[in-house]
Amino acid sequence: MTKLILDLDTGIDDTLALLYALASPDAELIGITGTFGNVSMETGVANDLALLELFGRPDIPVFAGTDHPSWADSFSVMPESGRFHGRNGTGNVEIPACARAKAQALPAVEFLVEALRTNGSDELIVVPTGASTNIAAALEAAPDIVERARIVMMGGALTQPGNVTPFAEANIMQDPEASARLFTAGAQITMVGLDVTTQVKLTREQAEAYRATGTATGAFLSDMLAYYTDVTEEAHPTGVPGCNLHDPLAVASALDPSLIDTFTCDIMVETEGAGRGRTIGDPARVTCPSGRTQVALAVDAERFAERFMERTLAFVRRCP
Ligand code: BDR
Ligand code: CA
Repeated sequence: MTKLILDLDTGIDDTLALLYALASPDAELIGITGTFGNVSMETGVANDLALLELFGRPDIPVFAGTDHPSWADSFSVMPESGRFHGRNGTGNVEIPACARAKAQALPAVEFLVEALRTNGSDELIVVPTGASTNIAAALEAAPDIVERARIVMMGGALTQPGNVTPFAEANIMQDPEASARLFTAGAQITMVGLDVTTQVKLTREQAEAYRATGTATGAFLSDMLAYYTDVTEEAHPTGVPGCNLHDPLAVASALDPSLIDTFTCDIMVETEGAGRGRTIGDPARVTCPSGRTQVALAVDAERFAERFMERTLAFVRRCP
């Protein structure tokens, strides 16, 4: 059993990442921390609380995180994020549940520090799937947790172009300065970026299988995925049909690293000019590699897709 903290900007594929974590018998989700990106931090947290209610796990604590990048005083959703995730983060489809629980009083960064102090690195993995702001702030606030922190993040691209600029992936671009600090902090990081997440697709047929469960949860997921698939196929008319399972692949790789093949490489994040947000091998560490960062370069897409559908469908059948 692996304990997980998900740091989400919920978000369509963040919703699926949460669903996968809850549907996985080998995962114990001990908390969700809210970040920004696809939506504002506040909207993401509201989505998390409603989704936990829908999925029958309102007992899982949700912590509000930093609501803006470390390089700015405020945050507004990028037009591309709004296009892909809808104005509410779930493809303009309403989550069919009303949250009874509220976000915890403890700030997300403090929760991360406390959780990383009290759990061994062999027990707990933090999975950020949005801006790196919260996790970078936690490592800075408490240098004693750096050595034990294990992070499997969705973000970046080493062998592929970016998805918001020719160089930058969306999560890194939200706060490149925070990502740059994260990659040099010394924690153990697995970067699950576009190199592999663009290889894992959910087809329209698979998306419709949720509706066939006859549950309100299933109908919600299928409607949300129809929106996501439409917009993905419109944006990439010559690409493989379907939508990308970016964030769920990070969760699945945290639980079962055998799904991916990784390359050990210290990463630097460019923060200036046209390359802002680019994740690239760090020239300053080529001769003195830390060995602490792995980049996923290959994925067993078929095994992941099968497992994703099997676990999530069985879970949705038990939902309202
Ligand atoms: C990442 O950016 C967000 O839009 C998605 O939720 C995912 O985390 C993909 O680049
Ligand atoms: Ca995300």
